[in-house]
Amino acid sequence: MVVFKVSRVQTTPFDGQKPGTSGLRKKVKVFKQANYLENFVQSTFNALGAEKVRGATLVVSGDGRYFSKDAVQIITKMAAGNGVRRIWVGQNGLLSTPAVSAVIRERVGADGSKATGAFILTASHNPGGPNEDFGIKYNMENGGPAPEGITDKIYENTKTIKEYLTSDLPDVDIASTGVTSFSGPEGQFDVEVFDSASDYVKLMKSIFDFESIKKLLSSPSFTFCYDALHGVAGAYAKRIFVEELGAKESSLLNCVPKEDFGGGHPDPNLTYAKELVARMGLGKSNSDGEPPEFGAAADGDADRNMILGKRFFVTPSDSVAIIAANAVESIPYFSGGLKGVARSMPTSAALDVVAKNLKLKFFEVPTGWKFFGNLMDAGMCSVCGEESFGTGSDHIREKDGIWAVLAWLSILAYKNKDNLNGGKLVTVEDIVRKHWATYGRHYYTRYDYENVDAGAAKELMAHLVKLQSSLPEVNKIVSGIRSDVSKVVHGDEFEYKDPVDGSVSKHQGIRYLFEDGSRLVFRLSGTGSEGATIRLYIEQYEKDPSKTGRDSQEALAPLVAVALGLSKMQEFTGRSAPTVIT
Ligand code: G6P
Ligand code: ZN
Repeated sequence: MVVFKVSRVQTTPFDGQKPGTSGLRKKVKVFKQANYLENFVQSTFNALGAEKVRGATLVVSGDGRYFSKDAVQIITKMAAGNGVRRIWVGQNGLLSTPAVSAVIRERVGADGSKATGAFILTASHNPGGPNEDFGIKYNMENGGPAPEGITDKIYENTKTIKEYLTSDLPDVDIASTGVTSFSGPEGQFDVEVFDSASDYVKLMKSIFDFESIKKLLSSPSFTFCYDALHGVAGAYAKRIFVEELGAKESSLLNCVPKEDFGGGHPDPNLTYAKELVARMGLGKSNSDGEPPEFGAAADGDADRNMILGKRFFVTPSDSVAIIAANAVESIPYFSGGLKGVARSMPTSAALDVVAKNLKLKFFEVPTGWKFFGNLMDAGMCSVCGEESFGTGSDHIREKDGIWAVLAWLSILAYKNKDNLNGGKLVTVEDIVRKHWATYGRHYYTRYDYENVDAGAAKELMAHLVKLQSSLPEVNKIVSGIRSDVSKVVHGDEFEYKDPVDGSVSKHQGIRYLFEDGSRLVFRLSGTGSEGATIRLYIEQYEKDPSKTGRDSQEALAPLVAVALGLSKMQEFTGRSAPTVIT
């Protein structure tokens, strides 16, 4: 057994190591500065406390973006230096964020060991490569992101850090599976490299009826397409969709994980998933031939999803509502009923209507998956989702891109169980339109203004808060812009009191609520790595079944005009159009 020594290295703090909505995300060149990653990792170990670190089993892996392999080695050496007993690494350092959550919760080592936490190496949907983003976040024993109490402590530690612990362990081969053992001052230290997909595949098989999905996917009347945008989802897509469920290999697009995501932006939306969008017959560059019946994409770390039908886009807000409405009959895991459902505040109220109709417990939480985790740990929530292309359930404590696709395939398989031999197929579009006819439709769109000057973004938000002190003034402005928009009846900044631990989160987005149920929400993104990103969420409810089929941008045009006018968007930001519309 190779023997290693532990050493203390002197360091000085870096500014700006405050974890955002989902960990610390910075440009690779920032992370590459000597001691930058080390400071953050040691600050995390210190925040957890020696009793949680010494002797622990920790997972280290991520979406495979540029700098991940170096980071795995650095963290492994530091883990040995800090008295960790064992590190679990997905082959080649690859594990999707949901798979990490599953590994923490489900995986049992040969000697009965269980992981108590994970360093996830990802900047999610941000681009990767030497000039792009890297990221790191810590997940806890329940498989979910560290709560604010811990991330605040980490940040405090980064401001005062003076030294870190590491070791002279040699680099470990993470390309092949197996255990390598070392001997240090405190005894044995193991690095176990394992297959990235098997634990996750096993979990999916325990949730869904793979046989019925297989019948659908291998039926000649159903066509399918999955785009991993060169993220880590590729490592799962082949195993699950092709090997387990019988989809054709040619139905996989960009499913080879790449360090720079092929130069693309691994965010599954209508703007960035260009190839898939074209293949599905949406957008300008319609490809030749008949588009597939079903298409989906994932982000870099495979926790996000976009669901498409043939020439048809399913908004994430509708997607979670439709999954919730159909889960019990289509997905074996939910056959006993749903414990409750939840959405983030800016997500449309489509889920609220389902919850009301099905008499389900319902929660509205701030943006950030960690808020769902508390509800799930307390047994109060089964299915949840966010407008930001995140959907998931209490099978893990992260959103889950592939789970969402399997949920949709389950619904399609259930609705088509008698149609696969030449009958008329119930399509994605049919399911969505029927849902609107039953529950009403929430027209919804999001405008993103990326990389805006941070000071200007703050001023815009302050202006919107100030405006809320006089609703008559607000309504004067509104009716001056569009006389066909209803009245604002309430304005506030969203605040959330966690029903489980009583903690309060303030300033979670500025809301303008209208008499007819429409909403405007303004928020600053917590996941960007440069400047500020302003998000504007626009929503309008239509109950009349004869009016639920309109084009959404057209239906929302009056509210958009009001939102831009009220916020003085162009005046503050200098932008005449958003960077991305979803
Ligand atoms: C991450 C979190 C999500 C959250 C999203 C918000 O993806 O995991 O739960 O919805 O960030 O991002 P934003 O840029 O809007 O803060
Ligand atoms: Zn992600």
